[in-house]
Parts: sequence; structure tokens; C-alpha cells
Amino acid sequence: MISRRGALGLAGAAGIATLTGCYTDGPGTGQALVSGARIPPPFKVPLPIPQVAKTVRRDDTTDYYEVVQKVAKVEILPGSKTTIWGYDGTFPGPTFRARAGRRVVVTVRNELPVPTSTHLHGGVTPPDSDGFPTDLVVPAGYPVHTKHAGMAMKPSDFTLHDRTRDYVYPMNQRAATLWYHDHRMDFSAPQVWRGLAGAFLIGDNDEDRLGLPSGDKDIPLLICDRSFDAHGEFHYPELDSTLTNPGVTEEYMSGVFGDVILVNGAPWPILEVANTRYRFRLINGSNARRYQLTGLPVTQIGSDGGLLAAPIRLESVTLAPGERYDVVVDFSEYPVGTELTWANALGTGPTGNVLRFRVARAEKDPSQVPAALAAVPVLRREDAVATRQFDFRLQGGKWTINGRPYEPAGSVAAPKLDSVELWRFTSDFHHPVHVHLAQFQVLGRTGRKPEASDGGWKDTVDIRPYGVVEVLVRFAGYKGRYMMHCHNLEHEDMAMMANFDVV
Ligand code: C2O
Ligand code: CU
Ligand code: CU
Repeated sequence: MISRRGALGLAGAAGIATLTGCYTDGPGTGQALVSGARIPPPFKVPLPIPQVAKTVRRDDTTDYYEVVQKVAKVEILPGSKTTIWGYDGTFPGPTFRARAGRRVVVTVRNELPVPTSTHLHGGVTPPDSDGFPTDLVVPAGYPVHTKHAGMAMKPSDFTLHDRTRDYVYPMNQRAATLWYHDHRMDFSAPQVWRGLAGAFLIGDNDEDRLGLPSGDKDIPLLICDRSFDAHGEFHYPELDSTLTNPGVTEEYMSGVFGDVILVNGAPWPILEVANTRYRFRLINGSNARRYQLTGLPVTQIGSDGGLLAAPIRLESVTLAPGERYDVVVDFSEYPVGTELTWANALGTGPTGNVLRFRVARAEKDPSQVPAALAAVPVLRREDAVATRQFDFRLQGGKWTINGRPYEPAGSVAAPKLDSVELWRFTSDFHHPVHVHLAQFQVLGRTGRKPEASDGGWKDTVDIRPYGVVEVLVRFAGYKGRYMMHCHNLEHEDMAMMANFDVV
């Protein structure tokens, strides 16, 4: 429960705060958590490129992978070790490179001391492999969780897998930048904070034909903020460090902002580049922080759900938690020797920096960004067969959707398979709203047209304080139970989720 004091602190932290609804932008809704460790200087550490996941087996239709979730010690702050929870003991986890039309089966073995659920964010995945918060891989003998956010849970609310399970991803979807992360009920925020996240890229033949930058010039950039204690360990304000009982200390109920910005798990790294085009898959994997990358204009080629119809030039890129932007940067515009920095216009002090590039060498560039990228059907208001409103709001001391905290057995909508619906999201604070399975197109924001960067198919959209965002959602793929939620992970854990059933 969030008390009156907590809620007021939250309004201040959100930087919005007036009853007139007047709005100033900021890092989102949350509270800064200051590191006890000495924060390293920016732009000294080379950008790590996560390893690409290797198949253990392939057959005519399917690529098989095995991943182990485990504890590891890694060097994040130069000269000290941080304990992480990682897929294959790495943070970020390995990058998956899948192909549209080729099924992927990932066997996840959980060697952590807690239950996990792995969700492929952006995946068109059957419900039993979607990584539902109550569909858990549990360590042997782990006691079944019976309470959550003050609500009783029944054993029948859970599906439990003993230590290991397969996730089946049919990959009947277009090329896109996805990511995967933990989704354990009530504990996604602390478990992602400890490292359970990685990139998952889908390619296809249509995309290959475009001649976009590829190979080592196609780089995922998972951006997230963390704080560190005096020993260099991750610092997070959880109430119970064993993650048996949920919750954070009251002042962080609105969200946790770290003061160290990591890209691919390294603090404010630097990347040496050739003077050619590069493709960057920007993923905001932060619990609560939003970024506005400025100082290096980009050509946006794709959004959450894959390529745009045509590239657009953006002077800056704003990413809310969970969102992806697929961008190309052309370093041939800068002489060899130039240093370019992505600053974060929504941060201050150390959080005002993100990543630096040094144009280190001249190279021939065979890549291009064609003026037409992909066929993207444009949904229209008339296509919607139903309209629903979902209000994301702090109510009665809880993060709620339409006034209700998450009910594991409940359902708030039953859209028909292959139909389009108009969903209107409204909010009090910043809430990055994410819908599982279905992708949507932004129709308008608070009575205005979508913003330039709202284009294409999306699965996550940032609702600003007192904002209204209308989206046209297409329910394609599978029938069954899915969910939507706020992707501020502290809000998500504190009940800002709702199920819907595709029928
Ligand atoms: Cu990326 Cu349900 O979350
Ligand atoms: Cu998702
Ligand atoms: Cu929220």
C-alpha cells in the first residue's frame, strides 16, 4: 500500500505535480536511488557485445537452445565484482538471432534460489509459452507463494515446473527487435534488476534484401540504469533480500531510478566505429527510467514490431521502459577522429550521459537505407470492432487498471482472434503500457496526431501524465489468456497488470 506521504513524494518525483494537469517531462515516475559505490568516469569502458546464443540442435523446422539461469560474478564497475542473476550467467543474457518461420525452442533451467518466468517481449507466442507471471520454473522444494500485494493466492493460480521447462516460439512473425526478461509475479522488478534480460532479434528474407547494415554493424544496445552499494553489488530497495516476500520500501513504490547508466551491462561505454552506417537495436530495459538520446541524430527504420514503411530522421530518440527503436546512424557524416556522444536529455549529472562513439577508421560501406523499407498496412479507426478504455492510475494506495489491482484469475476483455479493437489508455502519472501477443498502431495522443516516433507496429507505448493514447490493436496469432501491464516494473509488481482473453 502506498500511503498519502508516499503518494505525495511520488508526485514530486514524477515532476508533474500540478492539479491543473500541467506537465513537464522527466525520467518518468520513480525515485532516485543513490549508489554507495564510487561511480566510474564515463566513456572509459569499451561497449560489450553480448554473445550470440548457440543452438544445441537444429532440424528441418526448429532451432533448439538451452539456457541456464544462474548466479555469477561479473565486472561491471572497473575493479570490482558484482553478483548478478543472468541467463547463462551473463548480463545481458545471450542475444538470440531467430528467423521468421523457423520455430525456436528454448529449454530454460533455473539454478537460481527463486522461481522465474521468462517472457519474450514482442513475441507472438502461444499462451503456455508466453511467460505468464504465475507460470513458474521453481527451484526444487520451493514453497508455493500464497500471498501477493496483500491478496490471497490459491495454488490453482499457479502452474509450476520443476527446475526446467521448454518455451516454444513458433516465430510466425516478421523481422523485429524483441527482448526477453523475467516476469515472475510480484518480483519482476528485482529479478530484472539483478540481470535477467537480453535481446532477441528476428530476421527475415524481406529485410535481408534491403541491404541494411549487418553482421558486426548490427548491434543490440540494451540500456538500463542500476545502483551499486559500497561493495559494488547491485543495490535495490527490496523489503526481503531473499525475494520470498514482495515489495520495496515505500519511497520507491513509484519506481526505482539507478544513478549508473549501463549499455549492454557496462557503465557509460565507448564504441570505436568505422565511418560507415551502423544499425543499433535500442532497447530500454530499465525498471522505470525513460531516456531521450540527443547529440547524434538517427534514421529510425523500425519500432517494437519491426520495420517502418519508410525511414524517418529523428534528432533525438525517446524510449520508455520496454520500448525498442531500430535505428541507423551514418558515421560517414563525421571525419575520422570525431567523438560523438549520446546524452540523455531526461537525465541530470551522471544520468545525463549514455554512450560515446569514436570514429576510428575509414572503411568502404556496402550498406544502404532504402527509401521504402516494408509494406506496413495502416489500420484505421473504422477497422475497430470494439472500443475499450483502460485507465492506469494510483488508487486506494495501489497501482491499478480501471481501479482494480491485478487479479490472477480475472479477465478484463475478450477480443476476437483476428479482430482490431480501439483501446484508449489514460493515466495519472507516466505509465509505459505494454500489451502481450497483440501489436498496435498509435492513432492519436490526447486529441492530437501521433508523434513522429510513434510510427509502425508497437507493443509498448508511453502514456504521459494525464495523457490519453488511442491505439488500434490487432489480435493475431493465438487464442487464450494474455495480459497487459505497465512496464514500469515496480508498478507491474505492485499490481498494475490485467489479463485479457483472445477468443
Ligand atoms: Cu516486457 Cu509483460 O513484459
Ligand atoms: Cu511482452
Ligand atoms: Cu505505471
